[in-house]
Amino acid sequence: MKWAVVLLGFVLFLGACSTKKEEKTEIKVTVRKYGMADGKEVNLYTFTNTNGMTAKITNYGAIVQSLTAPDKNGKYEDVTLGYDKLEDYINDKSYFGCIVGRFGNRIAKGKFMLDGKEYTLATNNGPNHLHGGIKGFNKVVWDAEIVKGKDFGGLKLTYLSKDGEEGYPGNLNCTVIYTLTDQNELRIEYKATTDKPTPVNLTHHSYFNLSGNGKQNILNQELWINADYYTPVDETLIPTGEIAPVKGTPFDFTKPTAIGARINEKNTQLEYGHGYDHNWVLNDADGSLKLQASLYDPASGRLMEIYTQEPGLQFYSGNFLDGSITGKYGVKYTRNYCAVLETQHFPDSPNQPDFPSVILKPGQTYHTETVYKFLTK
Ligand code: BGC
Repeated sequence: MKWAVVLLGFVLFLGACSTKKEEKTEIKVTVRKYGMADGKEVNLYTFTNTNGMTAKITNYGAIVQSLTAPDKNGKYEDVTLGYDKLEDYINDKSYFGCIVGRFGNRIAKGKFMLDGKEYTLATNNGPNHLHGGIKGFNKVVWDAEIVKGKDFGGLKLTYLSKDGEEGYPGNLNCTVIYTLTDQNELRIEYKATTDKPTPVNLTHHSYFNLSGNGKQNILNQELWINADYYTPVDETLIPTGEIAPVKGTPFDFTKPTAIGARINEKNTQLEYGHGYDHNWVLNDADGSLKLQASLYDPASGRLMEIYTQEPGLQFYSGNFLDGSITGKYGVKYTRNYCAVLETQHFPDSPNQPDFPSVILKPGQTYHTETVYKFLTK
């Protein structure tokens, strides 16, 4: 009898241990009210993985409000720019942390032809259409559902962009699934279906700064882009159609290079962009998920790898930040305070027959994935 009690105790002890272990491998999720937009409730979801990395995501604009990553000493700090409060995101014009849609990047003069019909979109960036228009996917409230698995947790966001919204044809059903994994990755899966042919080019718009909590600008951070070519632009940042080699230009990031090393060189393309604001043509983009770029901060030791299925990467070096925005941690965002690394199809694709097509047709599913993975070196 005594032995039976001891044995039972032992079994219960083992059971408790294994439950504890399971708890440890679960991503923690907390939800708090973030405010109201468009008469709908907006929440802020915090995901914490077992290493202590956190991703805070809101269903307003599908925005990543904060994302932490470890430095070489294991200290987790925020590696994105943005705001504390929802009101600031509602008034924001910089697209901090959001999902950009229906079309990320520019469409020349806000016009394109599709199946013999001309479509007219808002021109919200000089003469051109930018990032989906006046009220893009960054300014709408998405439906949100928490998703969880053994070593990941995240948010499934859905949004129906109605036929005619911002001038685009077709009802577009969009799903974006953000997941934080125990491998210190933020994974983003995009899906969309339509009932009329329409251009679709969704992307994520975090302003990355690996110094941690926005300690300094990104000029010393080293960028690698697996691209031998890029798409030069005109003075309004619309691609000329040329696919130009990067070799011998400040656009060559085929070896990791400090962003500030050549940013002030005399170069017409850099003048047009006021720095880097261009699309790189990723090598060997065959639609599979591949390591195509990385950003490294020698001071903190933080390394971010970017895996994508997309053929292009827009790198914007925060050229239009002029100190007028004070963001999280009371930091004033001045020029070159961030690297926005947007995986996408090429800008102005609807008007460029030689660029990979962005037209989604009824019966097809738009499906693409991008992963931002955090390591130290
Ligand atoms: C564009 C920039 C633009 C910025 C707005 C970037 O994706 O390339 O030209 O100013 O978004 O936040």
